[in-house]
Amino acid sequence: MATAFTSSYVCGIRFTSGCRLFSRDTYRCPSRLRFRPSSVIVRASSAVVVEKLELDIQQNATVDTDIFSCPICYEPLIRKGPSGLNLRAIYRSGFKCNTCNKTYSSKDNYLDLTLTAGLKEYKEVKPPGTELFRSPLISFLYERGWRQNFDRSGFPGPDEEFEMAQRYFKPTEGGLLVDVSCGSGLFSRRFAKSETYSGVIALDFSENMLRQCYDFIKSDISIINTNFAIVRADVSRLPFASGSVDAVHAGAALHCWPSPSNAIAEITRVLRSGGVFVGTTFLRYSPTTPWIIRPPREAFFRNNSYLVAEEIEDVCTSCGLTNYKSDIRQSFIMFTAQKP
Ligand SMILES: C[S@@+](CC[C@H](N)C(=O)[O-])C[C@H]1O[C@@H](n2cnc3c(N)ncnc32)[C@H](O)[C@@H]1O
Repeated sequence: MATAFTSSYVCGIRFTSGCRLFSRDTYRCPSRLRFRPSSVIVRASSAVVVEKLELDIQQNATVDTDIFSCPICYEPLIRKGPSGLNLRAIYRSGFKCNTCNKTYSSKDNYLDLTLTAGLKEYKEVKPPGTELFRSPLISFLYERGWRQNFDRSGFPGPDEEFEMAQRYFKPTEGGLLVDVSCGSGLFSRRFAKSETYSGVIALDFSENMLRQCYDFIKSDISIINTNFAIVRADVSRLPFASGSVDAVHAGAALHCWPSPSNAIAEITRVLRSGGVFVGTTFLRYSPTTPWIIRPPREAFFRNNSYLVAEEIEDVCTSCGLTNYKSDIRQSFIMFTAQKP
């Protein structure tokens, strides 16, 4: 049964006359065709009804496969519920991986697509860069003072960072953007309001950051009615099929990730050919950092993910990304690279 679904999945596009069913491996749908409000489903001729997320084939029912993939096997999830990449539809939907026989659903207004979603006994504690931001207090304070401090390290501020990122994302206009490690959605909101993209997914590991993200947008009709989703996931296990995303943004995040190389490899996997990755982070030290200050910074930051500019370029290029560029101001770096 599962095989029948997966073979007909083609990046969440609704087939109309003139479109052929291709396998996911051979078909690349043009980014502008994807994720229009009503196009996030596939209608297949064979039929499936999902009853309490138990899938049974029946004639004349609907098969909905989704933009979201299983974080375990990366097969597309089957959706029961209204179609569409918007909060209301996702909240009212249940998702299931037919291969892993695992279900996923929305909780507190975000869709939990972590490996540990739904586990009752097992609790995972991540490294400090991840755990810090799971705190309700830090999540609350993040846009209420915490992030403003970044300007002391050379961060230009959200408005300018957004404009810079938008310039790099030019080749991906009209496509799907994933704001990885979105925090409380500082940039996700701007990307959504810009109307540059056919869909925006705000994604983070922190439940409390995502609750803040929802609180910031819940009364904003310019976002709530658009193709905007809030998803909990780990950057090293992104719940998307390979080559299905046009743009990945990761603001002030790389230094928080447990493994920047795993994360960038995973971002590279989900990007389509021509897709663009834009990230910002704090550097361990920059080319302008006085030599006298470098040894203590080396010692202090040795055991975590604060990299120097050359290391970031090295990881991006070793993952196969090309066209690497960067802007550096004090400890701030914005870097971009493209999937060939
Ligand atoms: C400093 S905040 C950045 C928020 C926002 N992007 C910005 O530019 O202000 C770093 C974010 O990385 C997230 N993060 C840390 N580890 C993560 C992981 N393994 N997967 C996904 N997100 C992670 C944290 O939850 C936090 O929200």
